[in-house]
Amino acid sequence: MNLGLSDSVAFVAGASSGLGRAVAKELLREGARVAICSRNSERIEDAAAHLREFAKEPSHVLPIACDVTDEAQIEAALDKTIAAFGHLNLLLTNSGGPATGMIDDFAASDWRNAIELNLMSTINLTRYALPWLRQAAGNTRHASILMVSSLSAKQPVPGLYLSNVSRAGVQGFAKSLSEEVGQEGITVNTILPGYTKTNRLSHLSESLHAQTGESIESIEAGWSANSALKRIGTEDEFAAAAVFLLSSRATFITGVALTVDGGAVKSIL
Ligand SMILES: NC(=O)c1ccc[n+]([C@@H]2O[C@H](COP(=O)([O-])OP(=O)(O)OC[C@H]3O[C@@H](n4cnc5c(N)ncnc54)[C@H](OP(=O)(O)O)[C@@H]3O)[C@@H](O)[C@H]2O)c1
Repeated sequence: MNLGLSDSVAFVAGASSGLGRAVAKELLREGARVAICSRNSERIEDAAAHLREFAKEPSHVLPIACDVTDEAQIEAALDKTIAAFGHLNLLLTNSGGPATGMIDDFAASDWRNAIELNLMSTINLTRYALPWLRQAAGNTRHASILMVSSLSAKQPVPGLYLSNVSRAGVQGFAKSLSEEVGQEGITVNTILPGYTKTNRLSHLSESLHAQTGESIESIEAGWSANSALKRIGTEDEFAAAAVFLLSSRATFITGVALTVDGGAVKSIL
């Protein structure tokens, strides 16, 4: 299937490792030009060096140091993207995951920080990208927003209060926006990873091990056992689904929340 991405420009947030970097890799393989961001300039430059191996041209990868909890940095990063590539028609909102813990473990500031990291970053990336996406849609380029959320939005995960709460906000934001901008030719979807092998998952198992004493092997075996496919997913499996949803082969799909979780969520819909 030709995904029709060769004339596309994407902004991929949280892309120095893990799911964001994997999505950037697939977009580059499909011929898109891709701006990637993360907080740490050394890490994002390293990611760019790795990703250039998959790009049609080295200049198709633009690394930008940007903390997505900072509105001014988001605005500057999008301006750099337009200056380098001339337009923007695809946005992947993404960042790191919040800490684990139970209700008594968190102060109000922890809740606020998690909302900044996972919800406000999604809203602000979208707000600043929207004028460019509208321009692209008006010029008959397909325009699409995909928001990385979590399976915790459909099925809250014990000990992941901060994620459970902030992802619910992302789902409400995405569905509202899809209704508003659909008539302008912009699609808005969310993608909900289940347990997928990345740095985040390693930190999660280490943190649960520290809290409960359960071995990391047993924690990971439990995650696998709870899924229909009885295993943890890979970044590439996640990226394949994400890139399809961003692509011009998915132009009649909007307002959906796609779980990519090997069957870990147990609800029918
Ligand atoms: N992997 C899973 O199993 C899983 C499951 C459900 C949900 N998720 C969610 O999916 C998202 C991505 O997870 P992942 O597994 O890919 O994690 P990861 O491997 O830790 O990658 C997170 C990426 O986000 C960047 N980042 C973190 N904070 C940022 C900020 N404030 N501004 C800009 N970039 C930032 C990190 O780079 P720097 O450190 O350089 O900034 C890194 O590139 C997270 O929200 C996670 O909670 C993951």
